[in-house]
Amino acid sequence: MIHLNGEFMPIEQAKISVLDRGFIFGDGVYEVIPVYSRRPFRLEEHLARLQASLDAIRLANPHPLAKWTELVEKIISGNPWEDQTVYLQVTRGAAKRDHAFPKGLKPTVFLMASELVTPSADLVENGAKAIVLPDFRWLRCDIKSTSLLGNCMLRTLAADQGCVEAILVRDGELTEASASNVFIVKNGTVLAPPKSQLILPGITYDVVLEILRANALPHEVRPVAESELRSADEIWVTSSSREVLAITMLDAKPVGTGKDAGKPGPVCKRVYALYQQYKARVMRAPAHA
Ligand SMILES: Cc1ncc(COP(=O)(O)O)c(C=O)c1O
Repeated sequence: MIHLNGEFMPIEQAKISVLDRGFIFGDGVYEVIPVYSRRPFRLEEHLARLQASLDAIRLANPHPLAKWTELVEKIISGNPWEDQTVYLQVTRGAAKRDHAFPKGLKPTVFLMASELVTPSADLVENGAKAIVLPDFRWLRCDIKSTSLLGNCMLRTLAADQGCVEAILVRDGELTEASASNVFIVKNGTVLAPPKSQLILPGITYDVVLEILRANALPHEVRPVAESELRSADEIWVTSSSREVLAITMLDAKPVGTGKDAGKPGPVCKRVYALYQQYKARVMRAPAHA
């Protein structure tokens, strides 16, 4: 079951105008919210990021927080899985094709859910492959825009080489990956690029930084040079569906040195375990706990 503009229906029945600016221009923003045991994870934070994306493209939020919460809850209960991914999207609506944002359109609001698929036990245990590519996307990657052609092209170049991710560099610095944020470990210190207009402010990125702080694990949020990425002891990507996933091969070379080369490193394993514990504590505990 999906939601479109105030109505719930099977996805086959959902229809939008071909003049919808989401279809014509990619003029819209979206969120992807993981759901564990039928509870949305960090819903407030996802809805705050939605508001920031809407503000950045001058699109009025069609719903107050309480209404969004209700829609998300209805989508969760209308679908069969205990663990889900809720996708929600707002586009500017239908209008005669003209680039400048028209005023007063009725936005298109769409929500759907699918089963949450997290990395397989094999990927968690052995890590994944990635390649490094130049970040040729636009300069407002902080907006969670549905215009994802650059990300799709980059992810496809990675997939062509049997890799799960393209890790991106711009002007000699690490930005993020095509659909995740990136952390590296160098000499026991976790390094993460700071939030800026060049990366998406990931909800999982925030959770990981909270975990690092709470457990007094050495970390620095600062620009990360491409050379540091390429000589990292560990590399991980984070996202709502990937959680904390080790990258163990970069450009066909093992990541790290010594006995952990080409395997998930000790800091990644620790943070992965802490992330799972956090999820279990916050999400799977009985509602009254
Ligand atoms: C480009 C990009 N960066 C980072 C992320 C991670 O964001 P989150 O942790 O909120 O899923 C995503 C998520 O899909 C993404 O598409």
